[in-house]
Amino acid sequence: MNSLVQDARKAAERVGLKSDTIVINGGRPLRGTIDVRGAKNLVTKAMVASLLGDTTSTLRDVPDISDVHVVASLLEIHGVKISGSAATGVLQLDPANVASAKSAEIDALSGSSRIPILFCGPLLHRLGHAFIPDLGGCRIGDRPIDFHLDALRAFGAVVDKLPSGINITAPNGLRGANIELPYPSVGATEQVLLTGVRALGTTELKNAAIEPEIMDLIAVLQKMGAIISVEPNRTIFIEGVETLNGFNHRALFDRNEAASWASAALATGGSIFTTGAKQSEMMTFLNVFRKIGGAFDIEEEGIRFYHPGGELKPVVIETDVHPGFMTDWQQPLIVALTQAQGTSIVHETVYENRFGFTDALIKMGAKIEVHKEGLADPNRRVPRRPLEQAAVISGPTKLHGTDLEVPDLRGGFSHLIAALVADGRSTVSNVGLIARGYGDFVGKLEKLGADFAFAA
Ligand code: EPU
Repeated sequence: MNSLVQDARKAAERVGLKSDTIVINGGRPLRGTIDVRGAKNLVTKAMVASLLGDTTSTLRDVPDISDVHVVASLLEIHGVKISGSAATGVLQLDPANVASAKSAEIDALSGSSRIPILFCGPLLHRLGHAFIPDLGGCRIGDRPIDFHLDALRAFGAVVDKLPSGINITAPNGLRGANIELPYPSVGATEQVLLTGVRALGTTELKNAAIEPEIMDLIAVLQKMGAIISVEPNRTIFIEGVETLNGFNHRALFDRNEAASWASAALATGGSIFTTGAKQSEMMTFLNVFRKIGGAFDIEEEGIRFYHPGGELKPVVIETDVHPGFMTDWQQPLIVALTQAQGTSIVHETVYENRFGFTDALIKMGAKIEVHKEGLADPNRRVPRRPLEQAAVISGPTKLHGTDLEVPDLRGGFSHLIAALVADGRSTVSNVGLIARGYGDFVGKLEKLGADFAFAA
């Protein structure tokens, strides 16, 4: 069994899926209401932040996704006592007895998550050392950790690369630092926040990521007692404090999940009300959704996304850091673009390998050309990054059911949408990978009237 299948099975087991394969009969519009809970990319980080407190933290609106289970297990092996459950959406995290974990245990869990790197700062403060095994996460590029390690060194940490992983110590404690990121990396910004809040003195971080999930993490840290100011031009100042307390926080909604279901509504010609979704964090997505010909109603409780009838229009998109168009939004939306009249272009500028999922769409009948070296375009708003690629999507094309093997989280959701749009039957395997980031997606498909069943 290859490691992808293994990861998918483990993820499926964590959230209690009956099987790792589902069979979908496509061609039905998805219609109905679903709940969008807290953002995977905030919740997992807020859980790590609980390590920094002297008292118990409470996190609400936690999604029941495999990545939350992985981080909970990683915290537990480091001595954090967890009560509540992802199923009910509330977790209490008690860090009174934080202790070192065995590297084999960390290794066993982290195969499917990049989160262990964010344990470094808090563990250095609490224990004076940290260990990171080989890092997993989605197979969407090299995903290096050089910015993280450079930031930790700037705080005074000593980094030893060993065959089994990376050993990090802080023999002289951690001191505030002046750090400028080469790129506004989400993870590296979180690393600096989680380390700087208890370092001695002031930290200045330039070229920081300012994604809404980062702002919500700053809100969590402020509740704990941290002093962090976000200045103009992507600069963040952190004044280190000696102690932090636990927090009580309701997580920001998952804008990636909301955008994914919105894309499913558009591609299938349906209508989905996403309870909990909010306009302000989704403005860039909403603009593109409207330009393609999708419609939405913004209500107090959430956002309804629907296909209002008529033809969908092509669009040119560049993925970017916030407030640009998120890289995580492009995969589900590309399925809708296969149904638009004309040629769309998606420039991927964040990761170097995020169009792998299109092979399966092509097999289903989509016309998509991937340009691995990127595409010149006189109207580009941002300078080119060397890693860029572009996908050119010509539509509309009929999609036909087939056998699909989910390659990663977001690509997997787009396979799911493609199977729901396609004529006939599709067998989708490795759906556990979708459960890494989409809470109760099977229950939601049922609620929305999809015609599917678990494979025997
Ligand atoms: N990068 C480096 N060196 C580093 C760190 C990043 O070169 O040390 C590069 C990456 O290779 C990439 C770019 O910087 O080209 C951006 O990476 P970033 O660090 O911003 O991404 P991340 O923190 O690893 C998070 C989310 C991703 C989301 C990105 C961008 C989590 C757990 N993951 O990743 O989410 O796409 O930010 O917003 O928060 C997903 O949810 O499916 C997902 C992949």
